[in-house]
Amino acid sequence: MDDAALEKALLLAVSQGDVQSEAFAETSGVDHKKVIGLMKSLEASALVRSTAVDRSALALTPEAETYLVEGSPEAQAFAAVPAEGCSLAAFKAKVSKAVGEVGFKQAMQSKWLGMVKGAEPGVERKVAAVAEDTCQLQLQLVAAGRASEMAAKDLDALVKKRKLVKQDTWKTYVVARGASFALERKKQPADLTREMLQDKSWRDATFKAYNLVPGAGAMPSGGHVHALLKVRQQFRETFLQLGFAEMPTNNFVESGFWNFDTLIQPQMHPARDAHDTFFMKTPAAATRAPEDYVARVKTMHEVGGHGSIGHQYAWKRAEADKNILRTHTTAVSARCLHKLAQDGFRPAKYFSIDRVFRNEAVDRTHLAEFHQVEGVICDRNLTLGDLIGVLHQFFARLGMTQLRFKPAFNPYTEPSMEIFAYHPMLKKWVEVGNSGMFRPEMMLPMGMPEDVNVIAWGLSLERPTMIMYGIDNIRDLFGSKMQLGSVKNNPFCRLGLIEQAETVQATQ
Ligand code: PHE
Repeated sequence: MDDAALEKALLLAVSQGDVQSEAFAETSGVDHKKVIGLMKSLEASALVRSTAVDRSALALTPEAETYLVEGSPEAQAFAAVPAEGCSLAAFKAKVSKAVGEVGFKQAMQSKWLGMVKGAEPGVERKVAAVAEDTCQLQLQLVAAGRASEMAAKDLDALVKKRKLVKQDTWKTYVVARGASFALERKKQPADLTREMLQDKSWRDATFKAYNLVPGAGAMPSGGHVHALLKVRQQFRETFLQLGFAEMPTNNFVESGFWNFDTLIQPQMHPARDAHDTFFMKTPAAATRAPEDYVARVKTMHEVGGHGSIGHQYAWKRAEADKNILRTHTTAVSARCLHKLAQDGFRPAKYFSIDRVFRNEAVDRTHLAEFHQVEGVICDRNLTLGDLIGVLHQFFARLGMTQLRFKPAFNPYTEPSMEIFAYHPMLKKWVEVGNSGMFRPEMMLPMGMPEDVNVIAWGLSLERPTMIMYGIDNIRDLFGSKMQLGSVKNNPFCRLGLIEQAETVQATQ
């Protein structure tokens, strides 16, 4: 019977009354499993419903099946011994292992066979013939489903001692009409197709129900953003909200001129040493520089001007032309401020967030490359008070409302301040950045008007990210040793969220 015919037959049978799945399988001449499969699929469409019934029955093991035909092992053992007897070795050579061991033992117990002692042990018959193969008769009863006619202890021996009979358990089903019973199953479309819309057949169609069985969906494999990029985005948004414009930071290679000289950092300053800075081999020297500005910077280094005495040394062009990997984003700020002064000064607010490089020993908190966040404000008559005010605004947006400042030194700022913040997550004061007012020695050679002041601050991107994500080794955050999987598993952390949560609590 093919599948379609079987389905039809089952539905017809169910229409006439409850159907017992096993009996149905038998009358249809198909495997019971096949009927169960069909029933389950009809049940999914509510054409039928089913109730399981546990069934069990005694069955012969495959070994016992052979004894049904060939006689019990003890009868086979008896048959293998000739009337005149034979050596034990000859007997064993003739029969299977089961007959030679179990059969022989049982035949001895039944006193059908006996041992002959001697130099060579032998086997002899104790009866002329086996009157009745009891074991085979018992197996026949089990096979015929008449095990109940046997003595309980005999059955027990077949099951437990000789392991020739086992208890089989299985399920059968009573199949009845389901909520949407019909004599024929309409194929339920799974998708709404263009054709169905065109011929309007969708109106009469019964669609396959969604299978919303709870199950774990596949993890989407792509589109995870690195923690540093997430935090960078938040810094960027903070600056943009405060009206800052982003500086172009796409030059990792910078000349010593822009990285140091424009910042009036003397050429013999230890930071310009190969121990602190990566120098390029090819191309080793920059080929372009704004010559008039270079000349003014040289003068400022050598003899000063505008009331400054400079650094009082012989400034070397070759040193300024050396190509390096930029050590800070203040090189970018210098370029932008110079351009602003040259284009004609107007008040400006700039920021940058990008990579910088330092030739230093790598440890838990230091890498040879990291990211800096830098803010610069350029306007007439700015004061240290403006810097402090802006820093309060900026860090409050990052969730840090309590700030403290400590005098510091930078070659290019005066005054300079280290910034400390009370960190609400760490519950302690931590250093969060460095800041200052760019020196007139830096701004005036650029062509800035005398009354223009520039306030600026910088911090690393890594430090707040590590604090937020609870990472204590920078190598777990960035670089070749980090586990890419952590990018997927990172929680979503938001700068300033704690502060907001606390404010909400306070106002409740
Ligand atoms: N460039 C400084 C650094 O690398 C940070 C800084 C930026 C300091 C701007 C003052 C003003 O640490």
